Amino acid sequence: MNANRLNDLGLDANHIAEAQRIGNLADSGEKMVERLRKASFLPGSEKALNVQLGIQEAAELLGCSSNRIRAAEQDGRLPAPPESKKGHRRGYDMEALLNMRKVLGASPQRTAEDQPAIITVQNFKGGVGKSTVTTHLAHYLAVAGYRVLVVDCDSQATTTTLFGFNPHFAIRREETLYPYLSIEPTQDDLRYAVKSTIWPNVDLIPSNLQMFDVEYELAATGSGGGSTLAARFRKLRKGLADLAQDYDVVLLDPPPALGTISLAVMQAANALLVPLAATTPDFCSTVQFLSMMSQVIEQLQESGISVEYDFCRLICSKFNSNDPSHAMVQTIMEQAFGPALLPVPILESAEISHAALRMMTIYELERPIGTPKTHKRCRSNIDQAMAQVEQLIRRRWGRAELDRPAQLLAAS
Ligand SMILES: Nc1ncnc2c1ncn2[C@@H]1O[C@H](COP(=O)(O)OP(=O)(O)O)[C@@H](O)[C@H]1O
Ligand SMILES: [Mg+2]
Repeated sequence: MNANRLNDLGLDANHIAEAQRIGNLADSGEKMVERLRKASFLPGSEKALNVQLGIQEAAELLGCSSNRIRAAEQDGRLPAPPESKKGHRRGYDMEALLNMRKVLGASPQRTAEDQPAIITVQNFKGGVGKSTVTTHLAHYLAVAGYRVLVVDCDSQATTTTLFGFNPHFAIRREETLYPYLSIEPTQDDLRYAVKSTIWPNVDLIPSNLQMFDVEYELAATGSGGGSTLAARFRKLRKGLADLAQDYDVVLLDPPPALGTISLAVMQAANALLVPLAATTPDFCSTVQFLSMMSQVIEQLQESGISVEYDFCRLICSKFNSNDPSHAMVQTIMEQAFGPALLPVPILESAEISHAALRMMTIYELERPIGTPKTHKRCRSNIDQAMAQVEQLIRRRWGRAELDRPAQLLAAS
């Protein structure tokens, strides 16, 4: 807004100066984000995946004995074990683990008959842990051997940032969902937007601030735009369903509002996961979210757009066991939501927030940030919490219940 316009609104020079300062704050903040990113991913400011597993950890993940891996290395079915360097044992990286799964027939991937899971991680409140759950679930599933696509549909682009891309400097609007969903689309299938990540079996469709233009454009179609909106909804659903054929699980991270993008995302998914913290405000706003969603689903259904979910679950995303109010709200949530609330909450952990500071999930840490005990507790909790979702996906494919040790990987 320029100064004249502000004057017209009857604001004085001080107010104008303050308002104009917002742009400077944004510029200075953007520079700091880039500095943080560069500092996190030295050298070369590229994010890299340096997680390495010992043979025992690899065997546990594959559900076989370490002797089976050694035998395959000896008879040449698997490459020779990684060499130790300067007394430090080198382990197996994620590529090696995926190869082991393939060679030893230990892949959990779906068959052609099984439908891929397209899960939206949704709530209309910001800060409830949507992006944290999305990225941790993606990396958990990647370690477990699934092929995962993450679609960042939020113009705030936290998930894109956690994957090591600076949405402001490194992502152009043409690389987001924008050209596909825009009112004047320039793309008719979503392949253009798929980016590889440092995880060999995780791809990403990134987002940036300009993705918000979709929200404006679709809203501007006005009341007469129902058919344009419906056409975009169908287009997103089809585009994601087509892409999903190359993956086992697609995770959608929509914006924290029930705007047009969120609506498009919720009807394109075939499962819903709602994260919320164990606080009264989160509980109350989640109840409102569910109520609005149910109304919207009804309206969509009336206009011929069906919404079908294999599962709808809520997950407590930041449970603090030292805060008695959290336990009280958790009980309230159990009573209100019954079995729809996943029994294992994600614990609030400094390990998660410290990893986020380095633009990582805890699955990407080479070593604990806090004490090994804190790390182990956090890792084991996240593994258990995410296994609940994996179980729901596997159930859809008619697979057996999981029988994995809770602590899949110990930080070495
Ligand atoms: N279990 C957790 N422990 C500690 N911090 C968490 C946890 N879950 C989320 N956070 C932090 O809470 C903030 C908001 O989470 P985020 O996933 O960005 O929420 P949303 O995507 O819903 O806006 C982030 O700073 C994130 O690191
Ligand atoms: Mg987010």
